[in-house]
Amino acid sequence: MKIAYNLKSSNERRNNQLKPEKTLPFGQLRTDHMFLMDYNDGEWGNARIVPYSNFSISPGATVLHYAQSIFEGAKAFMHEDGEIYTFRLDKNAKRLNKSAGVLCMPEIPEDIQIKAVHALIDTDRLWFPVQQGASLYIRPFVFGTQDSLGVFPSSFYTFAVVLSPSGPYYPQGFTSPIKLLITKKFHRAVPGGTGHVKASGNYAASLQAGEYAYKNGANQVLYLDHTNTYIDEAGSMNHFHITRNDNVVIPEFTDTVLRSITSESVIELQKRLQLDIVQKRIKVDDFISEIKNGGIKEAGGFGTAAVVSAVGEYLLEDGGKLTVGNGEVGEITKYIYDLYTGIQTGKYEAPEGWLQKVERNI
Ligand code: PLP
Ligand code: COI
Repeated sequence: MKIAYNLKSSNERRNNQLKPEKTLPFGQLRTDHMFLMDYNDGEWGNARIVPYSNFSISPGATVLHYAQSIFEGAKAFMHEDGEIYTFRLDKNAKRLNKSAGVLCMPEIPEDIQIKAVHALIDTDRLWFPVQQGASLYIRPFVFGTQDSLGVFPSSFYTFAVVLSPSGPYYPQGFTSPIKLLITKKFHRAVPGGTGHVKASGNYAASLQAGEYAYKNGANQVLYLDHTNTYIDEAGSMNHFHITRNDNVVIPEFTDTVLRSITSESVIELQKRLQLDIVQKRIKVDDFISEIKNGGIKEAGGFGTAAVVSAVGEYLLEDGGKLTVGNGEVGEITKYIYDLYTGIQTGKYEAPEGWLQKVERNI
């Protein structure tokens, strides 16, 4: 699967883009290569690692017209031993196949997905960012390539993986809380729809709401369910809040909420965190009253890109503002962030199977 490439020019490019003093943006940089595999005649084949370059795609491809496309987001971390480890990639591979089922696309064996990512990281391991807190963001995706304007599932697909040396998702970094806009104007997902999987179309549909949030001074929208009663999640992360009694509360995984691997992992860590973590439906009106009366002392979001991001303020449609606690990153949020990132980066022991070393010369 390996191909020769120009190490000198790639090193120059890498050194220019990855200056240690730079705060890396999220998702902007690419490494030199990408992984590709095609689905033809009912099977996946022609797995290859090639230089990162443009695709050649038919103007009638189903992905371009009907958004038959899914993706994943995962991360790899460099530990003190200089080795690179992927974090819970098996969960991403499983979820990619779940998304594939919902969008009538063929599944890809999990072991092949994992091997593809590891081989690509090994090829481009020189690109691992050296900045404090940075990681290698992994973006696997699948899209329909059949040239056909009929609305039905494509017979042909491409599976691709690209890598992005990345810093924090929110440009202000993890130490500054974000703002969420609570709105009844936009909905991310409906029951029976695709909100519970990573369909690319979900994100196209969220752009308008995102722009609305920015214009109103927030980083993202906090979406409510279609009846405007319950909290669903934010645009790229699950939501959580922490009660006066230190209970962590995450909205239930309904079919309009993405089953976040970060949320699931934090829930799995609850014994170690010595925190009670519950999932339930949360009425937005109760949530607002509880912030006002001090019953909620911290809040934030969980996600691969967002990691554990504190929310300092909720903006309301009528121009009102609700500050959570003192508006700073709360103690428990920081405690969860420290354990979670400590596990990812090898500072603390990881639960069995969470980290997988990227072997050399795969
Ligand atoms: N919710 C949405 C809508 C997302 O896009 C993401 C990011 O993947 C998440 C939640 C967090 O999921 P995960 O923790 O698996 O990255
Ligand atoms: C991730 O957290 O990996 C995501 O996919 C969110 C994304 C839309 C940036």
